[in-house]
Amino acid sequence: MFNIAIDGPAGAGKSSIAKAASAELGFLYVDTGALYRTVALGALKQGLTPEDKEQIIALLPDLDVTMKFVDGEQRVFLNGEDVSEDIRLPEVSWAASTVSAIPEVRTFLFDLQQSMARENNVLMDGRDIGTVVLPDAQLKIFLTATPEERARRRYEQLKDKDGITYEEVLADLNKRDYQDTHRDVAPLRQAEDAVLLDTTDMSFDEVVEAIITLAKERFS
Ligand code: DC
Repeated sequence: MFNIAIDGPAGAGKSSIAKAASAELGFLYVDTGALYRTVALGALKQGLTPEDKEQIIALLPDLDVTMKFVDGEQRVFLNGEDVSEDIRLPEVSWAASTVSAIPEVRTFLFDLQQSMARENNVLMDGRDIGTVVLPDAQLKIFLTATPEERARRRYEQLKDKDGITYEEVLADLNKRDYQDTHRDVAPLRQAEDAVLLDTTDMSFDEVVEAIITLAKERFS
């Protein structure tokens, strides 16, 4: 199997870029952030706060987290219910970042991620894919951009929906990146053998093209 790992901070455009690149390459796109979001949603639905570490660990055996691919698009399920839209709520972003620092949560989701990559050519994105989940991926990319540029892009997507300000978006991104980078287990960092793609001054198409070119070099 051919595996591509893409890691990077929040708002680097990983999912939209990964979607476009995987479609062109004919790879399955696996968004691992969606799995952490599903666990976070499960905890919130039980009335827990993301800081309730012990209760969240105790809840894990009762959480059935699965994913299915419908027309090549990933859907995530919590105890059989399709929660693919609910996990995008803003409060779930922060909750996902917080619960993802719990080692038992990471272990809980580990096999699911690895088995997807064993059985399919995948392009998988997240925070620890190149470092922990798929250390043998044939191509690893660390996708980033300045915090200001990432916040600007996210603000453009959100401003009509949420009435949120650019400053709030920037503060949320910085807070989440800090937490994801400073946790003890599998923190966000660039794998030593990853290619760094700083997309601050690149267009969407240029980034997708750069990934396709790297993939074709590695896989031909
Ligand atoms: O990619 P995302 O923004 O949907 O991810 C939500 C949170 O999940 C992110 O802030 C940290 C966590 N996460 C993780 O710890 N490891 C991954 N491989 C993917 C996401």
